[in-house]
Amino acid sequence: MTDSQKTATLSYNGENYELPVHTPTAGPDVIDIRKLYNQAGVFTFDPGFTSTAACESAITYIDGDKGVLLHRGYTIGELAEKSHYLEVCYLLIYGELPSATQIEDFENRVTNHTMLHEQMMYFFRGFRRDAHPMAVMTGVVGAMSAFYHDSIDISDPWQREVATIRLIAKMPTIAAMAYKYTIGQPFVYPRNDLDYASNFLRMCFAVPAENYEVNPILSRAMDRIFTLHADHEQNASTSTVRLASSSGANPFACIAAGIACLWGPAHGGANQACLEMLQEIGTVDRIPEYIARAKDKNDPFRLMGFGHRVYKNFDPRATVMKQSADEVLDLLGVENNPILQVAKELEKAALADPYFAEKKLFPNVDFYSGIILEAMGFPTSMFTPIFALSRTVGWISQWKEMIEDPAMKIGRPRQLYTGETARDYVDVEDR
Ligand code: SDX
Repeated sequence: MTDSQKTATLSYNGENYELPVHTPTAGPDVIDIRKLYNQAGVFTFDPGFTSTAACESAITYIDGDKGVLLHRGYTIGELAEKSHYLEVCYLLIYGELPSATQIEDFENRVTNHTMLHEQMMYFFRGFRRDAHPMAVMTGVVGAMSAFYHDSIDISDPWQREVATIRLIAKMPTIAAMAYKYTIGQPFVYPRNDLDYASNFLRMCFAVPAENYEVNPILSRAMDRIFTLHADHEQNASTSTVRLASSSGANPFACIAAGIACLWGPAHGGANQACLEMLQEIGTVDRIPEYIARAKDKNDPFRLMGFGHRVYKNFDPRATVMKQSADEVLDLLGVENNPILQVAKELEKAALADPYFAEKKLFPNVDFYSGIILEAMGFPTSMFTPIFALSRTVGWISQWKEMIEDPAMKIGRPRQLYTGETARDYVDVEDR
């Protein structure tokens, strides 16, 4: 944070309050209100945090008006094209692109932590077979704090490092196991001779009865999906992880809280909801009916995969995801996929409609990801678990940044109270 000499003046009740203004390296100035309550005895009110910077961070920068997304200064477009997920993980966690030696060491450490404690298999068995994989992931990741006692002391830098590697390494194994469990197939163990994305595809789709060869184009597309979902500033699930971590809770419990928050259809659950919406629309000729419903104030229906709290322009991830969708469906010979046709026509119709233009509603990261994942053979119930797997590095990086900040305090928002003022108890016979 570069301290500017600028200040903002608040006039209230005949008093003037000078508030410091911080100048970021990018983005809007930030008015520091930390002392406002002590000085003026007032709170500010911003329930959706639309105008509130909840923390200082150097990891990810978004310019919603320009459709810009930077990870440690590198554009998501360049990273998706030239980098790969584990290198992006290194960049998000440590702040710089790794040397050849550094990335080799990092990848080896991740590879050698991909197996789960064998006893955790029994934890899965407690779920019904029709449990949603996100419910399983939330439970199993939370349970990791019961199996990995040697990496829950957040005051120990070495334990923080071990927890970081364990979470990045084991999330694909847990997600694949959650999938296998719901379809009644045996768990497939990770293989150390496979790269991160190939390992995940094999753990999901291999069966003991035959060999499984990973298609390199599909593993590249999978790796790109992981990269596109890696981190996204202070979104709802990341803010959940930060708030949970501010109490000193262990990293596994905090990441489980992030998974639970991501599950919501307004957030990470949108990719599943988006594909289900496209399937419900079914054919191109029904698109006008759904566009009308999305515009109807009395209809709660929204176009899933459209709109964003921050992007009031194209989500740059959607642009890359759309290219991937074309490549994957072309490879699989399903470029005539009816769902993809509906998606492309829906996008065209929505972008041509003044309602969406006025409200700056553009396709977001979830609009095309579901189409790729479905084409790869994933059921819609696995879309958000894959988002959670990808976002784990973002949650962990933001967690690490906060824990290592000496100024860290427990998060404790206040409120605008509109309830009853003090009143006497009334006995039941007098009510
Ligand atoms: C993710 O924060 C992140 O960074 C999240 C994420 C990440 O990487 O972590 O990017 C991932 O969560 C992407 C968003 C996925 N969600 C969806 O696709 C669900 C559909 N989208 C909407 O629910 C909505 O757009 C939100 C929740 C994403 C954003 O909501 P906002 O910014 O709070 O906007 P809003 O609800 O105040 O809507 C503004 C207006 C409203 O109309 P008015 O009340 O002003 O008349 O736009 C309308 C809304 O009715 N609107 C939509 C719409 N989204 C907003 N109308 C139709 N379809 C939609 N999708």
